[in-house]
Amino acid sequence: MNVFVKKGVPADIKSEAIILTLFEDSKKMTGDALKIDKLSGGLISELIASRDFEAKPSQVAVIYTRGSLPSKRIVLTGLGKQSEFNLENLRAAFASALRHLRDMNIREAAASINLNLIPGKKDQVVQAAVEGSLLGLYQYTPYKTVGREDLKDMDELNIVTDAKDFSLVESAVKKARIIADAVYFARDLISAPANEMTPSMMAQKAREIAGRKNVSCKVLDKNKMKEMGMNALLGVASGSNEEPKFIILEYSGGKKNMAPIVLVGKGLTFDSGGISIKPAEKMDEMKTDMSGGAAVMGAIMAAADLQLPLNITALIPATENLPGGSALKPGDILKSYSGKTIEVLNTDAEGRLILSDALAYASEYKPQAVVDVATLTGACVIALGDDVIGMLGTDDKLKKEIDSAAKNTGELVWELPLWEKYHEQIKSDIADYKNTGGRPAGTITAAAFLSKFVGDVPWVHLDIAGPAWTAKDKAYIPKGASGITVRLLVEFLRNRVEK
Ligand code: BES
Ligand code: MN
Ligand code: ZN
Repeated sequence: MNVFVKKGVPADIKSEAIILTLFEDSKKMTGDALKIDKLSGGLISELIASRDFEAKPSQVAVIYTRGSLPSKRIVLTGLGKQSEFNLENLRAAFASALRHLRDMNIREAAASINLNLIPGKKDQVVQAAVEGSLLGLYQYTPYKTVGREDLKDMDELNIVTDAKDFSLVESAVKKARIIADAVYFARDLISAPANEMTPSMMAQKAREIAGRKNVSCKVLDKNKMKEMGMNALLGVASGSNEEPKFIILEYSGGKKNMAPIVLVGKGLTFDSGGISIKPAEKMDEMKTDMSGGAAVMGAIMAAADLQLPLNITALIPATENLPGGSALKPGDILKSYSGKTIEVLNTDAEGRLILSDALAYASEYKPQAVVDVATLTGACVIALGDDVIGMLGTDDKLKKEIDSAAKNTGELVWELPLWEKYHEQIKSDIADYKNTGGRPAGTITAAAFLSKFVGDVPWVHLDIAGPAWTAKDKAYIPKGASGITVRLLVEFLRNRVEK
C-alpha cells in the first residue's frame, strides 16, 4: 500500500472511506469528527447514540455518507479509554480499520490523524498510525497460485493534514514507511520455507541490502570459516548439504573512527534438532529459527535508509541443523573461534554454538555495544509466554536503552537475571563449557553460555523464541512471522544518535 500525505481538510477530501479515531469516554466530539458529523447531518452521533459503536479498542464501524460529503464512507475506529491511551492503541486502531476496509475489498482510503493525541509527540503519533496501518495489512502470498485474483489488498492511504503540519507529517510518514518496509523484509524472509530460504539465499538477500549507500556485504563461505577456525558454526552445519554462510553487513553512516554497534542474529534456516532430533509435531515452525538474523538484517536496512549517523555491523551466522551422516553427535567436542572448547551434549542446542563464533568475531570490532537476537530457547516461551522477549546482558545502561526502546515500540521485553550461580550449570567435565545446562533456567544458562564468548564489551542478548512466530492474529501482527525486534532495534539505534 502506498501512503501519501495530502494538504487539505478531511471533510472535503474525496475518498472511498475517511478514517476517524474516537475515544470510548469522550463526552463530545471535536475537530474533524465534529465537522464531519455536522456535515453529514449527525451520522456519527446517531451511531454513537445507538451504542452500535462504542469506540472500544480497535472496534470498527462503517457509515455510508450518501452524498453528504465527498467521501463515500466514514470509518470509525476505537481508541478505547482516553486515560489508558498510548501509541500501541493507535497502531492497533489503524491496523483494524485498514484490515476491515481490505476485507470489504476497498482499495483506497483517507485518514484524519489527530496530531495532538499525545501532547508534544506529533511525529510519533503519525508514525504509529502509519506503522499500524502498514504492518496490519501484511500478507505472505507468493506461493498462492490458485484463486490469486481473489487476493485482496489496499493500494493507497492518504493522510490528510493542514499546511502547517505538512512537512512534519510527511517526514513521519517517510520514517514509518522505512521501518514498515524493514519489518516486511524480515517477515518475508521468515515466512519463506526452508527449501527456499537457505543460508545461501539469506546471503543473497543481504547482498541486496548492500545495494544501498554506505552499506557493504561480505559473505564468508565454508572454506574461509575453516581457515578461520569457526568450528562451532561448522559443527552445526556438518549434518547438512546446504553450505553455511557467515554474513557480514556493514553500514558506515558515522565518522570513520566511531566504534560500531554490532547486531548479531541467529540464522538457523531450519532447526530439526540434529541427532538430538525434535518431535515431528510443529517441526515445520523451525523454519523461523532464522528470525533473529532476519531482524538484524531488517534493522541495518532501516538504519541505512534513515541515514543514521552511526556505524553498524550486522553478523548473521547462517546454517541448517540436520541429522546427516557427518552431523555433530552428542559428546563431540568443538574448538570454537574464540579458542575455547565446547562439549556438545545436545545437538538441538545449536543456536548458542553458532552464536558463540559470531559473538567472538563481533568483539574484534571493538564495538560500543553488541546486541544479539535469537530464537534461542523453548524455555523462554515457558518462562515468559508467546508475546515476550527475554533480555539478559552484562551492561545495565545498555539494558535500560533496550528497555526504553521497547516501551516506545510496544514490543514486550522482560529481563532475566544472569547471576554467577547459573554459570556452574554449563561447566564441562572435559571441555571448557558444555552446550546445555539442563532444563532448569534454560534461557539463563543459554545466555550464560553466550557470555563466555562476548569478551569485554557491553552486551545484551534478546531471546525471541516466543514472539518470533504468532499463532493467532494480533492487532498489527497478522498470524505468522512477526518481524519482532526490527522496530525495537531501529528505535534503539535512533536513540543512540540523539545522545
Ligand atoms: N530453536 C530452538 C528454540 C526454540 C524453541 C525456538 C521453540 C522457538 C520455539 C533451539 O535451537 C532449541 O532447540 N533449544 C533447545 C535447547 C535445549 C536442547 C537445551 C530447547 O529449547 O529445547
Ligand atoms: Mn535447536
Ligand atoms: Zn534453534
